[in-house]
Amino acid sequence: MDNEPKRGLARGLTNYGDAGFSLYLRRSFAKSMGYSGELLGRPVVGICDTRSGFNNCHRHFPELIEAVKRGVLAAGGLPLDFPTISLGEVFLNPTSMMFRNLMAMDVEEMIRAQPMDAVVLVGGCDKTVPAQLMGAASADVPAVQLLAGPMMPTSFRGERLGACTDCRRFWAMFRAGKVDQAGIDEVEGNLATTAGTCGVMGTASTMASIAEALGMSLAGNAAIPAVHSDRLRAAEASGRLAVQLAATPVRPSQVITQKSVENALRVLLAIGGSTNAIVHLTAIAGRVGVAIPLDSLNALSDSTPVLVDLKPTGQHYMSDLFSAGGVGAVMRELKPLLHLDCLTVTGETLGERLEKDTAWVDRAVVRSFSEPYQKQGGLVALFGSLAPNGAILKRSAADPKLFEREGRAVVFSSLDDLAARIDAPELDVTPEDFLVLQNAGPKSGYAMPEAGYLPIPARLARAGVKDMVRISDARMSGTAFGTIVLHVSPESAIGGPLALVRNGDRIRLSVRARSIELDVPQDELARRRAAWHAPSPQPQRGYARLFHQHVMQAEHGCDFDFLRKF
Ligand code: FES
Repeated sequence: MDNEPKRGLARGLTNYGDAGFSLYLRRSFAKSMGYSGELLGRPVVGICDTRSGFNNCHRHFPELIEAVKRGVLAAGGLPLDFPTISLGEVFLNPTSMMFRNLMAMDVEEMIRAQPMDAVVLVGGCDKTVPAQLMGAASADVPAVQLLAGPMMPTSFRGERLGACTDCRRFWAMFRAGKVDQAGIDEVEGNLATTAGTCGVMGTASTMASIAEALGMSLAGNAAIPAVHSDRLRAAEASGRLAVQLAATPVRPSQVITQKSVENALRVLLAIGGSTNAIVHLTAIAGRVGVAIPLDSLNALSDSTPVLVDLKPTGQHYMSDLFSAGGVGAVMRELKPLLHLDCLTVTGETLGERLEKDTAWVDRAVVRSFSEPYQKQGGLVALFGSLAPNGAILKRSAADPKLFEREGRAVVFSSLDDLAARIDAPELDVTPEDFLVLQNAGPKSGYAMPEAGYLPIPARLARAGVKDMVRISDARMSGTAFGTIVLHVSPESAIGGPLALVRNGDRIRLSVRARSIELDVPQDELARRRAAWHAPSPQPQRGYARLFHQHVMQAEHGCDFDFLRKF
């Protein structure tokens, strides 16, 4: 009988050298929480809670987790919630990206260390969903992702506002002198007004859509607004499903596969999703040994139209996508391109799941495959002498007039240098120049912040310039827009070609040719390389040191080298 797999509280006993004593002690301590013997004999569903006072997007989680518990209890399980660290996007320094891997380790280890037969992952804000999926994929305990759901937009003086494309739009207007201090103060109080994640197709909404497209969350889960009662029903259903998973396991490694990752990439492209999602999906896939070569992104992008008209690419908000039919409506349009035989967390295939969807779709928000919003996918990978291992451009949120051009580099050597000089009246810059930011990649000490959306120099912004070519090894918020080349690899801080660019160099961008070239003779580059030195000081202790030593480049998802599955 000892060889029978252990279930519920009997799983993974604390080691005292006497298994019988360990179980007796565990049950005794569990009884101190007032549980009956009957409940303690049930399958255990862990509920991974990522609420904190530093995370506005998760402020409704107490209600959501109550609903999950309701579902677990009704289906005959024992719900036990547990905290992991929470990552509130705008509350972290230097950037939430630095802590995604720490949270993924927390999630993985707490799932593995504690006795649970299945787990409901409750997350939403940008880095929390990738961290939960990375951790769950490595732990490989049956898991279902429950999303926070998007915020509602607010009606403000005749127009709808929502975080965070409108945050950036108003800030750009403030910088250009078109909105005064009183105006921006008033807007500040109307951008993010409900619980839930940013209400446009930013990173959080993109990762929610990817969780659904991968098959790791219930149908329809990505777009239900945080404050809608359907969100609570989805939470209850996720709890019920987790009890089913405890009895009939479907593991993350069965759901996250080469084919489902390709499906998720198709959806990412069709929704005009965030550039950050490439990094996160690569990291999630890497946890199950699936690679996403950047050049394969271009083949998928060329054959996947943008179907969804949502900010920052289009006009609408996530709550509109919910009303229009959600991610299911997008996947129904993409059906000929998807692998419909992929297993989802419910045990159904993706094809079976899509058959069950209602046929409703609002064409103002989700266009048909034959009449798409844009003919080609939102993201492209660029390669060339400036980015031998690749860079990313979100063409769906960029100005096509800037796609084929050569420009003069105006270089900022760091984020501090950028802050000090971007608005200086004496800065030698024209609208035709390319703004280049160095040392903002994974190993820069800034941990690849969302700084790739370099501000238009104030003098040019006041003259009406709205977009310029901007190039960096940083990331960009999924809610931003512009002709912005990101994730340049290898990054400056390890001596990539980006580190060798100097003011006045010529750079050629061709989105058509998928290329980004630094037009500097080889002997001059060799001279600059010999004089180059890494930024200092390097982190000497703690997590910052671990991050610096083990984080991989963007094309490997910025995961730690020792966490990937080989
Ligand atoms: Fe949490 Fe935007 S700040 S999703």
